[in-house]
Amino acid sequence: MDLKELPSNVGDDKISEETNILISSLPSHTDFQGKKLCNYQGCWYNYTTLQGVLNFQAGFKPQDTDIILASYPKSGTTWLKALTVALMERSKNQSFDHHPLLSNGPHGLVPFLELHVYRESSSPNLAKFSSLPRLFSTHMPLHAMHETLKDSPCKIVYLCRDVKDTLISWWFFRSAIHKMEPTRSLLEAMFEAFCNGTIYYGPIWEYVLSYWRRSLEDPKQVLFMRYEEMKEEPRGQIKRLAEFLGCPFTKEEEDNGLVDEILEFCSLRNLSGLEVNKIKIFNKMDRKIFFRKGEVGDWKNYLTPEMENKLDMIIQEKLQGSGLKF
Ligand code: A3P
Repeated sequence: MDLKELPSNVGDDKISEETNILISSLPSHTDFQGKKLCNYQGCWYNYTTLQGVLNFQAGFKPQDTDIILASYPKSGTTWLKALTVALMERSKNQSFDHHPLLSNGPHGLVPFLELHVYRESSSPNLAKFSSLPRLFSTHMPLHAMHETLKDSPCKIVYLCRDVKDTLISWWFFRSAIHKMEPTRSLLEAMFEAFCNGTIYYGPIWEYVLSYWRRSLEDPKQVLFMRYEEMKEEPRGQIKRLAEFLGCPFTKEEEDNGLVDEILEFCSLRNLSGLEVNKIKIFNKMDRKIFFRKGEVGDWKNYLTPEMENKLDMIIQEKLQGSGLKF
């Protein structure tokens, strides 16, 4: 699916009457930028996203071979999408000269279920997903997909990123969307929202734990990956991903350097330089804002020691006993 084909802006007028009734019964909150959020099944959504979640829950019929790439916003979703496409496409494309990632960006090739595919309807036309496996992505927590996927063996890859880097990345992203300088006051407001959980797709703790726990219970269904590990040992992690997806690298591919070629092709430097990733997409959002520094620990340049301590304490408390550490 090409995001250029999507409607330019779906507003609250696309919220069904049924959803409006539901919204009136849900906990609500106005965020730091005046956007209305409501809490549905433990997660904060804006109204348009909630409509997409409800459409997905009502209409999505998983196929056994489906692959869903899941992540909290600003965790490296774009990178994971590109790597997964490159892994799945490699049997068809021997060279990178005519690669699908050259004519469509990672988000166009792997659309978000609730934000794109099911944004307007519970029965979208899925003809574009005729080649198998179907590749989708989501920012929904796992519990939002639980009922819909409960008897399905489809695979889910979850990409987790350090909470503080996620926050900083999001601060820059939100500023870029609104074509504003990233101000301290916005960072402080986002920090508070992150800490108390009343943020789009938050609270992040319950969110990450939903995937973490499932990955321990059923590692064949949920692969839990970490951005920092991908940065630290990309070769090992991409091989892990390929194995999980059922398309491990052959010895010949490894000997021919394909692992490194894919990593280079999907590197931030290469992807951000591609013409296709410089254009505007729906909502007039610039694709290039999905690429910034891609560094681990960038938060150290922006968070005060007090902010660091507060987040560390919350993380410790919320993740206690889960085995998950940041
Ligand atoms: P920073 O803002 O810290 O630089 P998402 O794709 O989930 O929106 O996440 C965006 C973050 O992933 C940004 O982080 C962005 O720079 C980084 N990113 C995008 N493409 C990447 C790539 N190919 N390799 C590593 N990081 C990448």
